[in-house]
Amino acid sequence: MEFDSGCKAIDGEHRVQIGLAVALADAIRHGRPKTERDGLVDHLLTYTKVHFTAEHLLMRQYAYPEYRAHELEHDELLEQVEDLKRIYDAGDDDATLRQVGRVHAWLLGHIRATDERLAAFLAPLVPAEG
Ligand SMILES: [Fe+2]
Ligand SMILES: [Fe+2]
Repeated sequence: MEFDSGCKAIDGEHRVQIGLAVALADAIRHGRPKTERDGLVDHLLTYTKVHFTAEHLLMRQYAYPEYRAHELEHDELLEQVEDLKRIYDAGDDDATLRQVGRVHAWLLGHIRATDERLAAFLAPLVPAEG
């Protein structure tokens, strides 16, 4: 299945992160109220920061050798999400949808490659979460 890296905590966060991007695209396509769309954009940005910080903590805690490269990818992804917020705030729905699509694809690519490697490294080290 799509988010099954072997690390349940990380998988769950990825589901939320991708779910927020999908919900935002749906909300724009279906002309949902501005308050709802505003909330989704802010939530996606905040959640992405929190999730990246959680991964940074795990990588530091377990002395992950690819920490720096992984962190650099997060920096680039976060810039994409911050761009999304700027584009959204400018009020252009088509441009926002294009950027949501870009963010969605970048996040999935990161999750399936870079995060997958991190999860494989952590799997034997992190206690099972039940
Ligand atoms: Fe990551
Ligand atoms: Fe991640």
